[in-house]
Amino acid sequence: MTTRIIGTGSYAPENVITNDDLAKIMDTSDEWIRSRTGIGARHICGKDEGATYMAIEAAKRAVEMAGIDPKELDIIIAGTSTPDKCLPSCGCEVQAAIGAVNAVAFDVSAACSGFIFSLNIVQGFFMSGVYRTALVIGCDELSKIMDWSDRRTCVLFGDGAGAAVVRAEETGIRHFLMGSDGARGPVLECTARTTGNFLTGTRPDIGFTSMDGQEVFKFAVKKVPECITQLLEETGTDKDEIKYFILHQANMRIFESIAKRLKVPMEKIPVNIERYGNTSGASIPIILDEVNRQGKLERGDKIVIAGFGAGLTWGAVLMEW
Ligand code: UT7
Repeated sequence: MTTRIIGTGSYAPENVITNDDLAKIMDTSDEWIRSRTGIGARHICGKDEGATYMAIEAAKRAVEMAGIDPKELDIIIAGTSTPDKCLPSCGCEVQAAIGAVNAVAFDVSAACSGFIFSLNIVQGFFMSGVYRTALVIGCDELSKIMDWSDRRTCVLFGDGAGAAVVRAEETGIRHFLMGSDGARGPVLECTARTTGNFLTGTRPDIGFTSMDGQEVFKFAVKKVPECITQLLEETGTDKDEIKYFILHQANMRIFESIAKRLKVPMEKIPVNIERYGNTSGASIPIILDEVNRQGKLERGDKIVIAGFGAGLTWGAVLMEW
């Protein structure tokens, strides 16, 4: 058995912040952001729209499209690095909200690779026959871990959530790859609560995201094509057989470099970064939902999904729609 996507959904907060809006509160410009990243705007959570709220909305839409009763779900995994709470998990909160009373639920922390890693964990369960129906979520509220005075980093990110209902079937995921390089973690990091207790006499502190943009850029343009090439080689698939390469929406220039290295036309790489910025774990399920709802995917189409991010982490999936 393998994993087939039977429903997708996504949600982005109502507040849309354009590059020009940012230019009013920091020393930046639409021209700088657009020319270096392709980003024009991003959605930012309002007071009542946290990571869990977004995840629930995306999940409801995916479940509705799949046409299943939430009680059929055996497992819910939320890929998120920015949950509302340390505990319980975002996955458990979604479970309660949608009434998926028979599902086990938990979170996976793999930053921008969170959705792919979660999908592949489900694939492992399906291959072993343990579960049949799953909800995979990617959601992140990056706006709350940004240092809004660090223009090098904060202009890139936005908030959002995407979800997919998947089922164990004969066709679906053909092959997947995942990897991590923890030694390079410091190039993109955000401290959670620091140590603080009655022994240290300090209160826990919370950090903000810091990034070495050029190192992340170099990593992405090398690792993503490498990973996709390996995926295609190991399955004996020609790149021309792939209808779409659904990539983590990080940067337009990263897409252009990946397209060049893989020798695939840009038309095969769906892009929505202009409207969302980088939504981390949410970016892949959001673009997947868009492509799906536009009716661009037909049964049997082969697609590659690939992501990369903090960890460092990366992953790619070859699947039949
Ligand atoms: O999910 C993974 C997420 N991470 C990524 O995708 C990051 C990948 N990296 C990148 O996309 C690029 O490295 C950035 C877009 C982040 C930065 O582009 P860059 O061409 O590497 O710029 P830089 O950091 O070398 O900065 C160039 C100049 C600097 O000015 P000086 O020192 O040359 O005078 C910066 O201070 O641009 C300045 N700068 C800005 N100016 C206006 C940096 N950020 C901004 C800004 N607005 N927002």
